[in-house]
Amino acid sequence: MSFAWAKQYEPQSGFTKWIDEKLPVPRLVYNAIGAGYPVPRNLNYMWNFGVLAGFCLMLQIVTGVILAMHYASNTEVAFGQVEHIMRNVNWGWMMRYAHANGASFFFIVIYLHIFRGLYYSSYKAPREMIWLLGVVIFLLMMATAFMGYVLPWGQMSFWGAKVITGLFGAIPLVGEPLQVWLVGGYAPNDSTLNRFFSLHFLLPFVIAGVVILHIWALHIPGSSNPTGVEVKKESDTVPFHPYYTAKDGFGLGVFLIFFTFMVFFLPNALGHPDNYIEANPLSTPAHIVPEWYFLPFYAILRAFTGDLTIPFTGIVLIQAKLLGVIAMFGSILVWFFLPWLDKSPVRSGHYRPMFKKFFWFGLIPTMIVLTICGGAPAEEPYVMLSQIFTAYYFLHFLVILPIISQIEVPKPLPYSITEAVIGSDEVPGGTDGGGDNPQAAVQPLPA
Ligand code: HEM
Repeated sequence: MSFAWAKQYEPQSGFTKWIDEKLPVPRLVYNAIGAGYPVPRNLNYMWNFGVLAGFCLMLQIVTGVILAMHYASNTEVAFGQVEHIMRNVNWGWMMRYAHANGASFFFIVIYLHIFRGLYYSSYKAPREMIWLLGVVIFLLMMATAFMGYVLPWGQMSFWGAKVITGLFGAIPLVGEPLQVWLVGGYAPNDSTLNRFFSLHFLLPFVIAGVVILHIWALHIPGSSNPTGVEVKKESDTVPFHPYYTAKDGFGLGVFLIFFTFMVFFLPNALGHPDNYIEANPLSTPAHIVPEWYFLPFYAILRAFTGDLTIPFTGIVLIQAKLLGVIAMFGSILVWFFLPWLDKSPVRSGHYRPMFKKFFWFGLIPTMIVLTICGGAPAEEPYVMLSQIFTAYYFLHFLVILPIISQIEVPKPLPYSITEAVIGSDEVPGGTDGGGDNPQAAVQPLPA
């Protein structure tokens, strides 16, 4: 949305005037992330993670391109080539540790970004498209990270690839030929490594393209904010630059403290020691686990231990493995429907007493328990816990959220962002908005 009070770009020198006529990139930057972009004045630190995600994506591309200059996607040499990068290439160890830890930090940032969106219902109208594109980005990130983990050709690379590509075999009729076609053989091999390298190089650029669409879609309604009340007037906003360039800069500094600490002092803490053993198709590791950021979804996959049968006949309708695969993909696909599942007219969880309880005492513990179960051996009590919390996960989004959005009585909202920040505001007609005025508060969402 371009607000009437947005500052206009005015080229100062002859050169900037000339550029502005020929290719107005400075104008675009000024309007997108500069003084020409009015942003709600009350954004909290949870709104830092979008910019941090953009930083992580760039970091992964830069370090990844440098690593690719020295890597070879050939099963005979890949493992040794990574050791060569670590030992012989100037600063190679740093590039590799920054890239490997960068992937973990990217996911930490993205999970915070997504759960911010879930708490403040950023997925609601008019921001559905931003959210939908976000879910597409998340799926692409998962595919990229999975293929990247195969490249060092360690034990976890090989066996992780075998387990995950094996999931396609569960699809009825076409499963097995599809799996052989995707892998390029019956088990991960040279063809697999080559195609995974090629796609792992390509996908971050596809992600960058979808991120551009994501930001474009964001600039149409503008950012939401912790109250969920839309911008009404100039005093509700501040220019992005210098206010949020400074705040995002500070967030980036804090992020870099944690990130560099991990890269320089605990570079292998988030990885698995078995991946320092070269892939061996004849020796299965005792315990195959994916990277930590896949664990909740891995727990959902493994929660299905029995086939779906027609009662008393023993006829199998859906095999356990396929049920797990459907549930695992379904657990992310369900996010696509959130804008329509949650019908509450109030966005921010802050003003939604029931929603807030289910978020903090339902969804968040569920994600934590599923992460723990995904990393644990497939035995009791983890199997049972995975089953209970997988059931809650789907109930939360498909049943609880639609019901509470219909029955809950929200707390009164402030009349405006200005009122939320300074305690009072002029409403049209001259009276004071008053934080307790529910009529002023609950604004219906646009259709
Ligand atoms: C490479 C990945 C991503 C990048 C670089 C990125 C970037 C951004 C940026 C810069 C913003 C504005 C600042 C902010 O609100 O934090 C934003 C907003 C948003 N993003 Fe993302 N994003 C990414 C992934 C995702 C994902 C995976 C989702 C959801 C599944 C998502 C959902 C949203 C939503 C709903 C907003 C609007 C928030 C609001 O205004 O309340 N994004 N994103």
